[in-house]
Amino acid sequence: MKTYYNNNGNPYTLETLISFDAIQTESDKVARTINEKYEKIHIIGLLKGSFVFMTDLIRKITIPLTLDFMAVSSYEGTESTGEVKILKELNEPIGGKDIIILEDIVDTGLTLVKTVELLKTRSPKSIMIVSLLDKPSRRTQDSSADVACFEIPDEFVVGYGIDYEQRHRELKDICKVVFPSQG
Ligand code: IMP
Repeated sequence: MKTYYNNNGNPYTLETLISFDAIQTESDKVARTINEKYEKIHIIGLLKGSFVFMTDLIRKITIPLTLDFMAVSSYEGTESTGEVKILKELNEPIGGKDIIILEDIVDTGLTLVKTVELLKTRSPKSIMIVSLLDKPSRRTQDSSADVACFEIPDEFVVGYGIDYEQRHRELKDICKVVFPSQG
């Protein structure tokens, strides 16, 4: 098994958690739901983690679609609610549109809560939240995706667009990061 080193020089390995094929099966189901529910759709991918999920999913959607990307960073400030900083703004207006927000992982839920709050102020017709992964045990916010493909335990994962220190986004499968002390 290959050993990698993080920015602090600590070794780690990667173990497959969810295979590419399993992801395809689930994204087929998501696409079917979207195709049945809407006449047309505007998809917003939250960068960077959702970009691979986005490219796979849109090729399974058969209704007319447009897409856009947004980059936000959530952090806890001095207030417990935290806030979201927009790193990349949307290019298109969303007023009156049925939109789908694509997220890679819902962890504490802060990114989602704040992003939805912000986008609601722009009066879309509807918002559906689709997340590839869900870590319910980590939730601090009263929020969840409308559709989550996989529920995972409290593990740090990479691959299929998701990174650790900006690495491993290119992996086909979703893998968990294992440090030797974790066994
Ligand atoms: P939240 O605001 O706590 O829900 O954080 C969600 C964001 O944290 C995700 O969009 C990811 O960018 C990042 N994140 C959470 N868990 C992981 C992980 O296991 N691997 C990589 N990034 C993660």
